[in-house]
Amino acid sequence: MSGVSVAPSLLSADPGRLAQEMLDLEAAGADILHLDVMDGNFVPNITFGPWLARLARKTSKLPVDAHLMVADPLEWAPVFAEAGADYVSVHVEAATHLHRVLSAIREKGAKAGVAINPGTPVSAVEAVLPFVDLLVVMGVNPGFSGQPYIAGTDARVAKLSKALREAGLENDVLIEVDGGVTDQNAQALARAGANILVTGSYLFQSGDYKGAVDRIKAASAA
Ligand code: DX5
Ligand code: ZN
Repeated sequence: MSGVSVAPSLLSADPGRLAQEMLDLEAAGADILHLDVMDGNFVPNITFGPWLARLARKTSKLPVDAHLMVADPLEWAPVFAEAGADYVSVHVEAATHLHRVLSAIREKGAKAGVAINPGTPVSAVEAVLPFVDLLVVMGVNPGFSGQPYIAGTDARVAKLSKALREAGLENDVLIEVDGGVTDQNAQALARAGANILVTGSYLFQSGDYKGAVDRIKAASAA
């Protein structure tokens, strides 16, 4: 099994130079661009529209991972898939008809993801494991970067990793951890089964993107 992929969250990037930030992240060895889309309804913050997915598609070769923290995922998930996102993840807490949303994402040619908040039992996504490509386990309550990591997130990853193995889906579905990731918790998360680690404040506040990426990858492989 290859090492973890590192997905910087553009929520923490310099909004005045987003395209350059994407190129710098690519040069620093980042693997995926994570776009935190917030509607001010599902979470108490407002961020980007589909334009950022189009900009990322135009600017970078890296896969684009759109994390939709929106109250109406059925409306917005196809829009971000059409805008060029490779992965589109919606929150199980926001999707009345989750299977329908996941199908709509795949019909647009993107990979379908489901995200779960720290207060949501991992059992909430068991029914859709055969219909997803990505599981996003939140390490913080969604809405902001720079929040403290919630201990026990690795145990939640391990539960999902086990559920995927029991379903014979361990090679079909990736597990992403999003929120509060640093080189201090990367090892436990990787050992628990995480494949993608999102990082916002840890990387962007480091002043050394490549160093931060390398430290997370080294820690996760230790
Ligand atoms: C929170 C977002 C996360 C966050 C990551 O709602 O989904 O992607 O921006 O930032 P850090 O790594 O600082 O928690
Ligand atoms: Zn996110």
